[in-house]
Amino acid sequence: MNVSETKIILSEQEIPKHWYNILPDMPTPPAPPLHPGTGKPIGPDDLKAIFPMSLIEQEMSPQREIPIPDEVREIYALWRPSPLFRAKRLERVLKTPARIYYKYEGNSPAGSHKPNTAVPQAYYNKAAGIRRIATETGAGQWGSAMALACQMFGLECTVYMVKVSYEQKPYRRSMMATWGAEILASPSNRTNAGRAILAAHPDSTGSLGAAISEAVEDAATRQDTNYALGSVLNHVLLHQTVIGLETKAQLEKIGEKADVLVACVGGGSNFGGFTFPFVRDKAHGDKVRLVAVEPKACPTLTRGKFSYDFGDTAQLTPMMLMYTLGHDFMPASIHAGGLRYHGDSPLVSQLVHEGVVEAVAYHQNPVFEAAVTFARSEGIIPAPESAHAIKGAIDEAIRAREAQEARVIVFNLSGHGHFDMAAYDNYFAKKLEDFELPQSDIDDALKNLPKVGA
Ligand SMILES: Cc1ncc(COP(=O)(O)O)c(C=O)c1O
Repeated sequence: MNVSETKIILSEQEIPKHWYNILPDMPTPPAPPLHPGTGKPIGPDDLKAIFPMSLIEQEMSPQREIPIPDEVREIYALWRPSPLFRAKRLERVLKTPARIYYKYEGNSPAGSHKPNTAVPQAYYNKAAGIRRIATETGAGQWGSAMALACQMFGLECTVYMVKVSYEQKPYRRSMMATWGAEILASPSNRTNAGRAILAAHPDSTGSLGAAISEAVEDAATRQDTNYALGSVLNHVLLHQTVIGLETKAQLEKIGEKADVLVACVGGGSNFGGFTFPFVRDKAHGDKVRLVAVEPKACPTLTRGKFSYDFGDTAQLTPMMLMYTLGHDFMPASIHAGGLRYHGDSPLVSQLVHEGVVEAVAYHQNPVFEAAVTFARSEGIIPAPESAHAIKGAIDEAIRAREAQEARVIVFNLSGHGHFDMAAYDNYFAKKLEDFELPQSDIDDALKNLPKVGA
């Protein structure tokens, strides 16, 4: 194999046997999560009400490599290893001397990278004797992934779906129902958190922070039920490292070395999973750049504050040190629903804070323009979330053209956009707004940050 291949494919035997845990390789030890009530560092017992012990251990593990159970690898084999493509046609359109590659995670049954963690989360919950999972979903990708994974392990699944997506994406609901899940529009009347939001804002279109509050409350108040989160937490990013580990092996197969890695960031899981296996090389002197891309309408890494905050609106989750726009920040209803989260993974946040990772933000119109350029050259219609990474990669390729340098650009195409065609229609009809977030909105939301630590 060499750089002229279009698809770099690994065999099933090459599905990673371990996930890569970045914790022991972090430049400085991450700050502990704090209890939402006492403000003291939390221990494993504080998380027992909603997570199985095996996942709590992974959250804090000092081990660099964590074995992937055979039952999980067997399900991974339905779509993994995922292909790495050389975007030759896009390179030609851009007239760039750069070599552009993309890792495609849209070939999973749910259409994104999310099943990489949904499957092990369902597996460990089932092994712990749990019968039912409560979770939230923004754009519907995570809910679909969890519905699929629960079906595979015989678990019931209830999904609190942010109301704006529930209304915009009826076929995501059908998909979850096909895999046997129950779906509620959030805020719902099922939980105290949902009822409180509805009382204050009867027309609320919901937010990820609010849906998380509902799912956490559901899990915490039922013995047979646990909670599952699709991003942000260390164990989620850990499971997603199959993406980066495979990408490394694929690049090695063709004798290629990345100059820059690009991925979009909602809660940080596809970015972390894709880049963390390369962070270790960077610590050993490698010059690879890592670029995180987010929407200007929810600019957590580029305009947020590095501070302790809650992960949800109702302040039920532990407080984490991360970039945040404030836990009651309500982002505009942009089409990349999966990127509308007020916070970010503490691990990704710390790497941005320490200058290991760069962050950029884009408006949605240029992002859709990049998505269409990509679809018309490479064929795949990307999810609006993933299109942020495409925009980032295209800008890198244009800079390489201006510098006349044959840089190697690798990005993660985290999902396809087959359920997002209404957003494409809106883009073609020039109905998408480039929402300029006023600084006063950010200042207002940041006023309610909890008064602790950093
Ligand atoms: C296709 C796709 N990409 C990216 C994301 C962002 O999530 P994360 O930052 O956890 O990868 C989502 C979230 O729903 C998504 O559906």
